Amino acid sequence: MKRERKLDKMVITSEAQYKEAYKKSVEDPQAFWAGIAENFQWHKKWDRVLSYDWSVPETKWFEGGKLNITENCLDRHLKERGQQTAIIWEPNDPGDDVRKITYAELHEYVCRFANVLKDNGIGKGDRVCIYMPMLIELTVAVLACARVGAIHSVVFAGFSARSLATRINDSQCKMLITADGGFRGTKNIPLKEIADEALDHCPSVENVIIYKNTGQSIEWVSERDHWWHLETRNASPEFTAEVMDAEDPLFILYTSGSTGNPKGMVHSCAGYMVYTTYTFKNVFQYKDGDIYWCTADIGWITGHSYIIYGPLAAGATTLMFEGIPSYPDNGRFWEVCAKHKVTHFYTAPTAIRALEKHPVSLVEKHDLSGLKVLGSVGEPINREAWMWYSKHIGKDKCPVVDTWWQTETGGILISSLAGVTRQKATFATLPMPGIQAILLDNEGKELKSDTAEGTLAIKYPWPSIARTIYGDHDRYKKVYFSAFKDHYFPGDGALKDEEGNYRITGRVDDVVIVSGHNLGTAPIENAINEHEMVVESAVVGYPHPIKGNALYAYVITYSNTEEANQKLEDEIKGLVARTIGAIAKPEEIQFVPGLPKTRSGKIMRRILRKVASGECENLGDTSTLLNPDIVNEIISGKVNTN
Ligand code: PRX
Repeated sequence: MKRERKLDKMVITSEAQYKEAYKKSVEDPQAFWAGIAENFQWHKKWDRVLSYDWSVPETKWFEGGKLNITENCLDRHLKERGQQTAIIWEPNDPGDDVRKITYAELHEYVCRFANVLKDNGIGKGDRVCIYMPMLIELTVAVLACARVGAIHSVVFAGFSARSLATRINDSQCKMLITADGGFRGTKNIPLKEIADEALDHCPSVENVIIYKNTGQSIEWVSERDHWWHLETRNASPEFTAEVMDAEDPLFILYTSGSTGNPKGMVHSCAGYMVYTTYTFKNVFQYKDGDIYWCTADIGWITGHSYIIYGPLAAGATTLMFEGIPSYPDNGRFWEVCAKHKVTHFYTAPTAIRALEKHPVSLVEKHDLSGLKVLGSVGEPINREAWMWYSKHIGKDKCPVVDTWWQTETGGILISSLAGVTRQKATFATLPMPGIQAILLDNEGKELKSDTAEGTLAIKYPWPSIARTIYGDHDRYKKVYFSAFKDHYFPGDGALKDEEGNYRITGRVDDVVIVSGHNLGTAPIENAINEHEMVVESAVVGYPHPIKGNALYAYVITYSNTEEANQKLEDEIKGLVARTIGAIAKPEEIQFVPGLPKTRSGKIMRRILRKVASGECENLGDTSTLLNPDIVNEIISGKVNTN
């Protein structure tokens, strides 16, 4: 049988081709993206590739085009790869059975569940909240929503009842899909119980569908609650996909801002599909027969774009992992890589840093010879972590792609292409074709010199940019399009080397004013992290009677003796003074065993700011932390600032 080659036409295989593609994408973006979009299945071709006005702001791609993304992720593969594994599912407990589902089976399962949604009154445009563990059924629920044209809003299954309720209410979800419980390491998260608590405050939810996962006993609300297995049992395995407009919303995903409620970023059907597939194929250079594993949770954008939509649209085999990297031991990631002969491994620097602290024997006892490509996402990767990852996991033969992007961007904006374009440790390197990245100074003037450091901005639309914040377009405008006129403002700082490689230096919106000087905390942390004994640091401001604010640094080190730390304190202050200026020297340095982090690996600066300010009693909600215990440890070792 002739193989489906269409999607392979979009793959860049040499540096020269990258340059050519990039040039074309800037000179004639519409022709460039039309050429890529032609590789997908459409019910009707678009009338217009792009129209936009960022003063509104408004961006439309492939207007007039009609499609359903699930036909591109499932139906189009049936002929050629119906029997190929679409998803490998690795359970939390390594002794439990692995599940594998082919494209044909996944298609059927999604159709069945789409019928369940329809029978429960869900149709085009309805919002459906999904609060589930990392099970194949989570992917099925997501795709079934897309198939009926409903807008899914996945909420990470580690969030509290209050966080869940806030998100459900913000987008007025009509249905919730959840499970009785979820396993994570030695824990069993009572999802249904948490959902019940949330739903006491969510009048918009009419029906709840519950997947039986752990088998634990749960409360039941008759009329409202329905078992997944009973609903799907007699559902038809056929479902004609709803034909969607290119610009119809596909999903909402919440992300936190520096202030206020979480922002419900809205992504639309066509542009998101085109861009995530294009970047998946090019960044990872996935080939038929490869096994791709992204360790993110589907509750985050990385899971949406690079576990589900990008890989499935590309016809890949994607692995979903139910568990955590430290269970049953800190070698679990490597065990899973060896067990499934993973070729592509994509994780976050925070995971790498946590694992590199453990004996390397935990890596070496597993056969990682199948690995071809390593990826990093979510935060700047420090040199030590990059080197350890490349050496011990990649055995110095796997390219490492450091992919910079955001919930708002939908897909990867800056990254090397594995083994095709050059990599450079700690640099995300070059923008993807279609991404017109620039650096701006504080006045919003473009920094045109070869090497520069400033605020990152994107000056032209790409297909998967979030179109709005659900229910708050003004906020969307204010946060992303007001800092610099006619530019998308991601809120990150970056520097550029003489070859045009970008290194992301961190958020620019955590600014502290010390003695009247504006100081971003990210560059100070970068300076501290340069010290060879420093693992990680977080710098925050606290009120100071003379300076207005002063800086407090929390530092994790490789050493832990008091004597060594005393010396280190002086060295760190000297280093910051040298790198940035004496004004940026932290007033206080506290050596800590860890930092409070959200489950997506972001440092919870709000807590650190309060502790530094001496307000240790009222720390607010710490339930969403990955490591809540660390807070008390930090408080007990606090340096007196009063
Ligand atoms: O600060 C950047 C950082 O994560 C932010 C986006 O977070 P989120 O929307 O949760 O999405 C994370 C997964 C895409 C960015 O503004 N970030 C993400 N990737 C990188 C990064 N910082 C440096 N290097 C990266 N590769």
